[in-house]
Amino acid sequence: MATRKAEPYRIKMVEPIRLIPREERIQKLQEAGYNVFALKAEDVFIDLLTDSGTGAMSDNQWAGIMLGDESYAGSKNFYNLEKSIQDIFGCKYLIPTHQGRGAEKSLFSQLISKDQYVLGNMHFDTTEAHIHLSGGIPVNLVIEEAFDTSTYHPFKGNVDIAKLESFIKDHGAEKIAFMLITVTCNSAGGQPVSMKNIREVSEVCSKYGVRVFMDSARFAENAYFIKKREEGYSGKSIQEIVREMYSYAEGLTMSAKKDALVNIGGFIALKDDEELFNRVREVNVAFEGFPTYGGLAGRDLEAMARGLREVLELPYLESRIGQVEYLGQRLMDAGIPIQYPVGGHAVFVDAKKFLPHIPYYQFPAAALCNELYIEAGVRGVEIGSLLLGRDPRTGEQQESPMELLRLTIPRRTYTDNHMDYVADALIELYKRRDRIVGLEFIFEPKILRHFTAKMKPVSK
Ligand code: F0G
Repeated sequence: MATRKAEPYRIKMVEPIRLIPREERIQKLQEAGYNVFALKAEDVFIDLLTDSGTGAMSDNQWAGIMLGDESYAGSKNFYNLEKSIQDIFGCKYLIPTHQGRGAEKSLFSQLISKDQYVLGNMHFDTTEAHIHLSGGIPVNLVIEEAFDTSTYHPFKGNVDIAKLESFIKDHGAEKIAFMLITVTCNSAGGQPVSMKNIREVSEVCSKYGVRVFMDSARFAENAYFIKKREEGYSGKSIQEIVREMYSYAEGLTMSAKKDALVNIGGFIALKDDEELFNRVREVNVAFEGFPTYGGLAGRDLEAMARGLREVLELPYLESRIGQVEYLGQRLMDAGIPIQYPVGGHAVFVDAKKFLPHIPYYQFPAAALCNELYIEAGVRGVEIGSLLLGRDPRTGEQQESPMELLRLTIPRRTYTDNHMDYVADALIELYKRRDRIVGLEFIFEPKILRHFTAKMKPVSK
């Protein structure tokens, strides 16, 4: 019996990628202001910027694309998606949106009153932005272990239950708009949340009358970790685990670009609050579109309806998360510091430990990201002080608790050979890490600066 697991699919169509010569990579990066967001994708060999909308669809999903019903109202694909969502999450009501942030905008506008808190394990940046835009205040209550990259904890995305309860007691339930559990917790390194923790959050919240929702971008990956790591779940199917996870919440926002295995799409799903459903649906018409298409084509709805069912298949999840683990293991074997254990969608390299000589205000993870592009044409992304930005009151550069280089693995897109190539490149960089220097601004935009900033290497 073979012990090694191979991908549960074969490849029918390929998209050529090209490694441009090293001198050209140096030049392209300089022209991009030492900011990989400004590179042309065609100048990138292996693109690990994000797992969002970058995956490969299946033959079944592409077949669904051909069955798109592009009626303005009442498209049959909407009803197929509604059925998938009812079956998978047990949610009666569906509101499609163009992607996850559209769902956040429409739902939050109806849940948050001015200066109310929105609690979470760790909100994603667009989520935080939409909490602010709706007048709310985001609060992160993830366990301390999430910030310690080298110590094993099976569920680093967990909410600190004691902190949650004391926050509610100290501020009063009426000051809290809702609780949002992000599964898996992207900002903590794609780290899962345990079923026990979800259950306890729901118990504490219901004791004080706080509503619970789930940011569900990587819900199936979270369920897989529960199956693998939590006692009592190894014999349960992913579908059963997902149903239990969602039994503790009253609704969800979804970026379908991740675990619905599509290139664009999102939705809000609600269990039984018809009044909230009607209000959200109404604003969503203005922001996103008529209730049965919500910013998407019929064909997109169909691909989502099918992707949501495919993502629950165990061989897929084993292969998907196995690939992320494979890359993580190769780096760990070489002594490279990473967030451990690896999360579901990415390997997070600890740039603070990789480049201890570069201070946070010279952005070690961004410097490492640039070096990786020069070394191998691989594009990762900085999750650290550059992303965090300045304190809005004092204008001071804030120090992020972690300086991470995220190597985000698109779904069903690259092979393990690509992973070996990435690992080899990072191992090379690790050998010459002393010679890597930090970055300083040439141009610093006021908002969301990491996307458009222009930088240069600090002169020694
Ligand atoms: N929630 C989480 C946990 C996310 O990771 C994202 C997006 C969103 C919400 C927003 O969804 O992009 O469809 O509007 N994350 C991407 C990333 C962009 O690269 O991690 P969206």
